[in-house]
Amino acid sequence: MIYLLSGPPGSGKGTQSDMLVQSMQFKKLSTGDALRAAAKMGTEVGRQAEALMARGELVPDFVLFEIVKAALRDFGTARVVLDGYPRTQQQAHDLETLQAEFPVAMFILLRIGDREIVARIAGRRVCSQCQAVYHVQSRPPRQAGVCDACGAALEQRSDDMDEKIARRLQVYRKETEPLLDFYAQRQLLREIDAAQAEGAVFVRLQALIGEGGDA
Ligand code: AP5
Repeated sequence: MIYLLSGPPGSGKGTQSDMLVQSMQFKKLSTGDALRAAAKMGTEVGRQAEALMARGELVPDFVLFEIVKAALRDFGTARVVLDGYPRTQQQAHDLETLQAEFPVAMFILLRIGDREIVARIAGRRVCSQCQAVYHVQSRPPRQAGVCDACGAALEQRSDDMDEKIARRLQVYRKETEPLLDFYAQRQLLREIDAAQAEGAVFVRLQALIGEGGDA
């Protein structure tokens, strides 16, 4: 079964999907992490993706579909959370072509207002080595600027600067928000108030997964 975790930039998709991996043995694919890893490796796809991501634009649908198909086949029969996929109508249709093999259990929207988004993204720090995610206020590392897990330096993502946040939000509204109707029509849409603390959001997420009969 596949669980789709969606929401605007900074809504907590990465944080919550990591908690599903740690507490509920989910397999996770974050398409943003996969693209950043490809960029770091310097592959052709990675180089093209890096330029688009730095501008806050989406990477082409066919690139994402290849990444998603490969990961799902790798994960086999495990419960899977897709963090940040699909993000366009085309991606939703692409995923539907795999429905027989990889059925979607629900599309979960992390709903949050713009002001909180900006505060979360501006305060986010990411480990330059292991990609662990922190926040200067809500999840500070033990030592400022240093990753608790591996000791490497923390940094800000290049797309987390003010002007890029505005563009990412615009793209989200135009390309990804229409998916709410798409999944509502299929009775797969669920929502969580993501402005709550991490733990409260996770309690609600676990409850939704339980209601789906797949806990
Ligand atoms: P991606 O990396 O997915 O970025 P995003 O969607 O903009 O989401 P973020 O990673 O910014 O935020 P998040 O929701 O994961 O929040 P987080 O948990 O980190 O994608 C980057 C780019 O890749 C895209 O712009 C695009 O170019 C490309 N891309 C990716 N997928 C694509 C696709 N399918 N198609 C095309 N292109 C694609 O939390 C944010 C901060 O808040 C953290 O500091 C965290 O500690 C803190 N926080 C989290 N939860 C809480 C809470 N409840 N209370 C207080 N603080 C919290």
